[in-house]
Amino acid sequence: MTNELRLMIVDDEPINVMLLEEIAKDMGHNPISFYIPKEALEWAKINTVDLILVDFNMPVMNGLDLLKEIRVSHPEIMSIMITANVDNALKLEALELGVNDFLTKPISTAEFELRLRNMIAIQNALKTQKEFSKQLTIEVEKATKELSKSQFEALDVLSRTAEYKDPETGSHIARVSHYSKMLAEAYGLDEKEQEIIFYAAPLHDIGKVGIEDAVLLKPGKLTDEEFDRMKLHSTIGSNILKNSANPYLAAGAVVAEFHHEKYNGRGYPSGLAGEEIPLYARIVAIADVFDALTSIRPYKRAWSFEEALELIEKEKGEHFDPHIADLFIANIDRVREIYQQFEGMDD
Ligand SMILES: [Fe+2]
Ligand SMILES: [Fe+2]
Repeated sequence: MTNELRLMIVDDEPINVMLLEEIAKDMGHNPISFYIPKEALEWAKINTVDLILVDFNMPVMNGLDLLKEIRVSHPEIMSIMITANVDNALKLEALELGVNDFLTKPISTAEFELRLRNMIAIQNALKTQKEFSKQLTIEVEKATKELSKSQFEALDVLSRTAEYKDPETGSHIARVSHYSKMLAEAYGLDEKEQEIIFYAAPLHDIGKVGIEDAVLLKPGKLTDEEFDRMKLHSTIGSNILKNSANPYLAAGAVVAEFHHEKYNGRGYPSGLAGEEIPLYARIVAIADVFDALTSIRPYKRAWSFEEALELIEKEKGEHFDPHIADLFIANIDRVREIYQQFEGMDD
């Protein structure tokens, strides 16, 4: 660590300035000096200063006023105030303003050297501390980044695991994520929430891992009993994910549990209505249904955008939250972009 301070001397008496300069230079510093406080102030506006040695008694602007002004651009500046007499009231005022030390005229070389040395020690300690906390911040940021990277990897693994048993395709999962995020943004949710729903949406059907193949993969129409089994995937999904402290998994639990609820209260598993249904689930419901409709499935052709939009429109206030349905329809161009982005992905 360097012992050099960026030192500024301000005193209206040239003889004092010369003396202080000489001592400072002998100690290996390279001070900049001013006789006029205003000039010192101008210089400090565009230059760095660590320590100011300032005379109290100067015409036009005294040392304390100068210090107050310099602090605007240099809040951390250290200061030694030079006074002719030991006026206690003045000392108190100066200390209150953060003056670090005093030097009484006539200036003693030995005293000045010692005071300057102390200042350098303090300054160096501050610099070390600052450097340390900067380093610490970098380390923490790095660790956080690593953590969220592995977190996202784990989420991805989870979604892909669910996909294996689910006849729905990878591109369906991806599009539901993107549609949901787009809706979250249109709804006015902040970026963090948009990210949460983006990673939570693919988990909506994760509970299907708990449904037996005979039901899950049955080619024909399900019997009432089989359909009841199938419905359990929402509760199973929630059971897998709930109680997690991870915000993405916790949101995934909500989405899994409630993505088959309907705005009119006729959905499952709880028959919640309107805004009783968590917002994330109301969003994912539209994204999920729209994408299922516009995709080819073993039992159905792909609907056209127009046909699927017609259904969204028709189900406003029935299956879907009318406001979110309107947002979806209003953003149909973005929906189309997302759709095209993943076209052919499963071929
Ligand atoms: Fe589902
Ligand atoms: Fe789905």
